[in-house]
Amino acid sequence: MSVSVVLPTFNERDNLSAVCCQIEKALEGWRWEIIVVDDDSPDGTWETARLMGSLDARIRCIRRLGRRGLATAVIEGISASNATYVAVMDADMQHDVTLLPRMLQALSAGDADLVVGSRYLEGTGVPGWTAGRHWLSRLATMMTGRRVLERLSDPMSGFFAMPRVVFEAHVRRLSGLGFKVLLDFVHVAPLELKILELPYNFSARVAGASKMSSEVAWQFLLMLLDQRLGRFIPVRFLAYSSVGLLGVGVHYLLLLTFMEGLDLAFLPSQTLATLGTITFNYSLNNRWTYAGHSLRGWSWLRGLGSFTLVCGLGAACNVGIASYLFDHQTGWPLAAAVGILVSAVWNFSVSARYTWNMSNRI
Ligand code: GDD
Ligand code: MN
Repeated sequence: MSVSVVLPTFNERDNLSAVCCQIEKALEGWRWEIIVVDDDSPDGTWETARLMGSLDARIRCIRRLGRRGLATAVIEGISASNATYVAVMDADMQHDVTLLPRMLQALSAGDADLVVGSRYLEGTGVPGWTAGRHWLSRLATMMTGRRVLERLSDPMSGFFAMPRVVFEAHVRRLSGLGFKVLLDFVHVAPLELKILELPYNFSARVAGASKMSSEVAWQFLLMLLDQRLGRFIPVRFLAYSSVGLLGVGVHYLLLLTFMEGLDLAFLPSQTLATLGTITFNYSLNNRWTYAGHSLRGWSWLRGLGSFTLVCGLGAACNVGIASYLFDHQTGWPLAAAVGILVSAVWNFSVSARYTWNMSNRI
């Protein structure tokens, strides 16, 4: 029986060799390998991983270029595994490796289809966390809802193991958003899945820093929304439409400023307000709708260019369709509404493909 331990990493150079040593010790007697999935860390974690791999072929590294995200890193790591079991843990030694062999024993004895390290079972704790972080984690846990909490005390855990085939059976339905791949998985896995939780103490970080951020928290909210509404409407489209509505307000505000404040004529004011609104919508969508895939630096500018182009074409479609309908005995409110809807769907789907390059992503 073999196991792949997937270690997602971002700037964990100073933790990697220690955590690998710990895993090697803990898994004595097992046929194991370690798959490091590094998102091209600026600190060169992937170089460290390659060096370790050259000394011990059981350590492999996938270096992902131009992509970020803990959940997708885990999914790709598991997808590269050929082992009987897969285990996922943080590479910063906050998870207790001595749990690994116990997880695997439970799996091979058939006691469970999924084993999760839990911080919230009796006798466990999270030392070193600020009160704020503790409170946030509890709040997020509660927000996952009763259906999940009936099955798991710590659905936010990043420490778990299961037979590879179990993961692969459901991988296509994962959202891949943010940090919480376990929660994502439990949501799509059938109720018959036997889950076992083992308690452990979450240790304090020794080296490096946590990557938890407001962006990651927002992705978590998007994932919860997706789990509730995703069947009916894509959450990104919802976020995109909300930004669009805000944009209408911004447009009028800009128009007012140019006409009343700067005394410009209507045409230049309307043109400037339109450009301003497009930039506003673009920035907001880039930050929130596409959290985790945000464009930065030069790509940001290129993105603005393509977004402007897409929206310009969208506006042309809007006017064309609306005036066609209007000319064919459709009342103006309905004609305008259809025009707006068509251009919203066009803008959303085409900019997703060309501006944020989402077609080949999870
Ligand atoms: N490849 C990749 N890409 N790895 C990442 C990324 C990313 O964008 N972001 C974080 N990681 C890696 C880190 O390098 C670390 O090995 C692991 O994922 C966890 O990230 P931390 O930044 O240390 O998160 P945390 O300690 O605040 O929270 C973790 O533990 C909690 C308890 O299990 C996460 O796993 C949480 O999801 C989990 O609730
Ligand atoms: Mn950590």
